[in-house]
Amino acid sequence: MKKIAVIGTGYVGLVSGTCFAEAGNQVTCCDINQSKISSLLQGIMPIYEPGLKELVQKNVERETLAFTTKIDEAVRAAEVVFIAVGTPMSATGEADLTYVKQAAETIGSNLNGYKVIVTKSTVPVGTGKLVESIIRKSAPKGQAFDIVSNPEFLREGAAIKDSMNMERAVIGATSDKAYEIIAELHIPFTSNIVKSSVESAELIKYAANAFLATKISFINDIANICERVGADVTKVSEGIGLDSRIGSKFLQAGVGFGGSCFPKDTSALLHIAQDSGYDFNLIKAVMETNEGQRAQVVEKIMAALGSLKGKTISVLGLAFKPDTDDVRFAPALDIIPQLKTLGAQVKAFDPIAIGEAKKQLGNQCDYSDDLYETIKHTDACIVLTDWKEVKGLDLVKVKRLLKRPVIVDGRNLFDLDEMHDLGYTYISMGRPAVYNEKVLVSHVI
Ligand code: UDX
Repeated sequence: MKKIAVIGTGYVGLVSGTCFAEAGNQVTCCDINQSKISSLLQGIMPIYEPGLKELVQKNVERETLAFTTKIDEAVRAAEVVFIAVGTPMSATGEADLTYVKQAAETIGSNLNGYKVIVTKSTVPVGTGKLVESIIRKSAPKGQAFDIVSNPEFLREGAAIKDSMNMERAVIGATSDKAYEIIAELHIPFTSNIVKSSVESAELIKYAANAFLATKISFINDIANICERVGADVTKVSEGIGLDSRIGSKFLQAGVGFGGSCFPKDTSALLHIAQDSGYDFNLIKAVMETNEGQRAQVVEKIMAALGSLKGKTISVLGLAFKPDTDDVRFAPALDIIPQLKTLGAQVKAFDPIAIGEAKKQLGNQCDYSDDLYETIKHTDACIVLTDWKEVKGLDLVKVKRLLKRPVIVDGRNLFDLDEMHDLGYTYISMGRPAVYNEKVLVSHVI
């Protein structure tokens, strides 16, 4: 059992703090945001994450988990301090380290004994060293401490599952003592631990996310070729994914990746490469392909309807992926304004992300958490998030509700033969388009 302070109650801090508490440690999660902490104390979660609320409640009740804005007190009481504050993308695409530096100063000025300071936030290579120097400056002279980089690999929507059952933990420590302390904390979660330097651990996080993003953009490029040569990307994906050297995961073609990690981390890695004097062309192409996928959805709906002037489009899905209310870098945030610019009215469906989406899109569309109400009387439908509700659509009913049986599917959810038999014009990503000749305006995609 260790006494742990976690600074930052965002996705990473709240989930990992809760899981360390669940494993029997004494955890205090801190944040400078008073309203966030007040809500957490009342059992209100700042994010939607399956299983989180129950686990927080259980650990608060058995007093293994506490929330506070008194960061200095929490730091002084802790043996291990995790920095899990946000590292948002700055205007130039680099990670903004303002909050990390603030946290390091607070830790330094409250260093009252040996502590292990762990960065969990995704931070550029060299941040461990920076944190060390900030702490050294603000800490009492001669006070010993160690720095560890322990990046987080959890996925939104599966955060608790991923944290309680990690595929691996990465620990880059400045001493064996610190490594052993952090490794011991991970015993309940995984037996696969990669021991490395602080710098390698920092780079592992970016390399992992950039590699996954590359797989997605690769299959999206293949999808674009499929459309031109009459092939079906889902078959190509199946065919290459069964080669265990390639693997079948992250080969789903579609509208491209969004979320808080892949767009931010690919961009930050490009900067890390540039700063080190290396031109990382591959990652530039990955980012370009991703932007192109969004533009394609708009081109496809234009091709199917001819013009969007005076038309109403239903958009299914605002969250960047299912089981989260996160809309950061979500395809909908790019696509809905483009539809508006082209003269369309937009009705948008999402089961849980409407509140977050409204903050970004305002009154650019009508919102509803009723799927069929959203689709009713619209000229065409665009699928942007693979919510289970959307996957399970009653396509016979949808055809009756739509003014024209036109679906542009950014997630390849439906069967081509079924859509043909039902009489849809159905245009998906990297698969042959299905046309209902009666509603056809243009075959050019
Ligand atoms: C990701 C990483 O998976 C996780 O390890 C890391 O810690 C944070 O970033 P997350 O952003 O929560 O997690 O979502 P993920 O499930 O990985 O999906 C990312 C994006 O890729 C989504 O927009 C998703 O729709 C898209 N995606 C994923 C595809 O387009 N095709 C795929 O085959 C897989």
